[in-house]
Amino acid sequence: MIRSVVRGIGSALPRRIMTNKDFEALVDTSDEWIVQRTGIRQRHIAGDDETTASLGEAAARAALDHAGLQPDDIDVIVLATSTPNNTFPATAVEIQNRLGIHHGFAFDLQAVCSGFVYAITMADLHLRGGLGKRALVIGSETFSRILDWTDRTTCVLFGDGAGAVVLEAAEGEGSLSDRGILASALRSDGAQKDKLYVDGGPSTTGTVGHLRMQGREVFKHAVGMITDVIEDVFSRTNITSDEIDWFVPHQANKRIIDASAKKLGIAEEKVVVTVDLHGNTSAASVPLALAHAVREGKIKRGDLVLLEAMGGGFTWGAVLLRW
Ligand code: ACO
Repeated sequence: MIRSVVRGIGSALPRRIMTNKDFEALVDTSDEWIVQRTGIRQRHIAGDDETTASLGEAAARAALDHAGLQPDDIDVIVLATSTPNNTFPATAVEIQNRLGIHHGFAFDLQAVCSGFVYAITMADLHLRGGLGKRALVIGSETFSRILDWTDRTTCVLFGDGAGAVVLEAAEGEGSLSDRGILASALRSDGAQKDKLYVDGGPSTTGTVGHLRMQGREVFKHAVGMITDVIEDVFSRTNITSDEIDWFVPHQANKRIIDASAKKLGIAEEKVVVTVDLHGNTSAASVPLALAHAVREGKIKRGDLVLLEAMGGGFTWGAVLLRW
């Protein structure tokens, strides 16, 4: 059986760091409020020369280096983003060109904060379907460009950055001891669109628009959605929360992360938390957290890793993989 195995991982962050204190000069907020309600202490904000494409390219190059591979070894690029460089062409194609790759195919995938979980699942299906041997799966965002910097309820929450993994098709036994992606569960439901959306777009206003969120309403749904897809993955694999080595959730809010881990019975020391460092980087959040945990020597070959995300749409999903 073909399994999509992670060969390498990398990340990239804008040079500029904005602390909670920096926001006190912009809007009516405080470091204390932001830390207590979200766990966020700082986030990186893209400069004029830093874009979704440049950050995505840097993360991709870091992942290729980590894998010991060259750009030419890649057949498929899937970029998860809601903040593309242009309405079209896909920013994935721009990254493909920046990497000097002129074969295979590249496309963007838009599932907001669930983007990376969706993208790694799509790349897995492509590899297992025989459309290529290796895929780059990138989450890259510049949410700072779609924030309303006068709205304290949203502008303090988000940051910019990118993370990437190289997936490689490898022969597995078909058992849960195989390395690679073991199960995925994806969901979406458009009924709650007004709770989290951007108030502009090419086909409506002809503008880019700004992010709007009813945070409390999103919060109410978050833990239920997250645990729903994870329980789906558990029931299809017969894996229990005790067997998980690392839980790498979407980094939106420390309180949501803690409540989800508690409900699922995942021990605190197995939870990877980077929301304090990066804020909510949407589709980049899970690969940034993964890269951080690998760099810190936490996630090691053979570990059972559970990824999860939820975001605008609503969209939500979970992926179980052996590192
Ligand atoms: N500083 C100070 N006070 C603030 C700030 C701020 N930055 N923002 C809001 N407040 C105030 C509010 O105005 C409100 O005041 P009021 O009681 O006088 O009306 C008070 O703080 C409490 O506001 P709530 O919205 O109830 O605060 P809550 O505890 O729910 O925290 C938060 C807000 C952090 C947004 C939380 O609801 C949350 O994390 N929601 C989920 C976000 C999420 O997970 N999004 C999904 C992914 S994002 C994506 O897909 C793009």
